[in-house]
Amino acid sequence: MGIFSEILLKIEADASFRASNIYTYMSSLHPYQNTKKLHIQEVVTRDGFQAEHVFVPTEEKIALINRLSRTGYAKVEVTSFTSPKAIPMLADAEAVMKAIDRVLGVEYTVLIPNLKGAERAISVGVDEFNLVMSVSEAHNMANLKMGRENSFAALSSVIDLAHQNKIPVNISLSTSFGCPMTGIISLADLMHWIDRFAAVGVRGITICDTTGMANPAQVQTVCEAAQSKYPQLQWTLHFHNTRGMGLANALAAVNSGIDRFDSSLGGLGGCPYAPGATGNICTEELVHMLDLMGFNTNMNIDALLACSKDLQTLIGRPLPSQLLMAGKVDKLHVAPCQP
Ligand code: COA
Ligand code: ZN
Repeated sequence: MGIFSEILLKIEADASFRASNIYTYMSSLHPYQNTKKLHIQEVVTRDGFQAEHVFVPTEEKIALINRLSRTGYAKVEVTSFTSPKAIPMLADAEAVMKAIDRVLGVEYTVLIPNLKGAERAISVGVDEFNLVMSVSEAHNMANLKMGRENSFAALSSVIDLAHQNKIPVNISLSTSFGCPMTGIISLADLMHWIDRFAAVGVRGITICDTTGMANPAQVQTVCEAAQSKYPQLQWTLHFHNTRGMGLANALAAVNSGIDRFDSSLGGLGGCPYAPGATGNICTEELVHMLDLMGFNTNMNIDALLACSKDLQTLIGRPLPSQLLMAGKVDKLHVAPCQP
């Protein structure tokens, strides 16, 4: 019997069953998935705000992070300790990190491009270093102003510093699937950089589709290869919805065993050094889909939607979130009067 037929039967059989139960009811229809915990990692105040044209005031960033911290995330990427000339929107990284509430159970990570950024992060205390490098040489030159070998050497020193300070390290591999300047990235190229970072003791690797070039079949191949070679690593998938494949890619990753995702409130986001890059997959849309499928995201979807609505007001323009426009599946409309 289909899901909708089951709901109709339930509504008929139980007069007290209200429309507002549909969301929870559908989640409960897949008990086999309920045991699977998925970790949601918010990136809006880093990936989202870095590409904004108007500086988001420091106190607004802090207030947003404090609200988001209480909605169930596993990790929040608070900001980046990059050059303020390169990323002026996040020039207040220290002030933000110092002022946010550190909610128990949430890891507070930051993006770090070099040793200087690592020293700044240590001075204010972070739970993780999220280092960044591109699998594409051209994108690495555009983003980090150096070739990949130089980046790797520089990041190896950052990893040493992190280990001395007992800070876990994650490496985000940008343009893992495709590069807007050089095209599709081969699995062999990606695995080469995964091997190099696995060998220097990172805790986790984020495979990033920086400009939304991945498709679900490619995602499945990559996820299976990466996890089977390094099952001990913490794997995260980071998708952008540039070409409308974002949620399909996330689902392909879930089906390949991935249990961690970066996503951005309202779908805000984009790399200023990648032509045509637009928003990350939208957190509320990802959570809404996974909840309905019966996965355990631990997220409070209603609180998320409220945050997203207020973010729209904060940045002064509509966000790409379709869920914000349409509402959850339990938002029903008054039926037209019958003649
Ligand atoms: N934090 C603060 N300042 C930094 C810094 C950091 N992490 N890294 C470099 N700087 C400063 C230097 O002190 C120097 O300042 P000065 O001009 O006052 O002397 C200036 O930036 C240039 O330093 P340099 O080492 O020559 O860096 P660069 O100009 O080659 O830039 C990066 C290299 C990586 C630091 C810079 O391109 C960057 O921060 N990129 C961010 C990329 C990013 O976040 N992209 C989006 C996410 S994928
Ligand atoms: Zn991104």
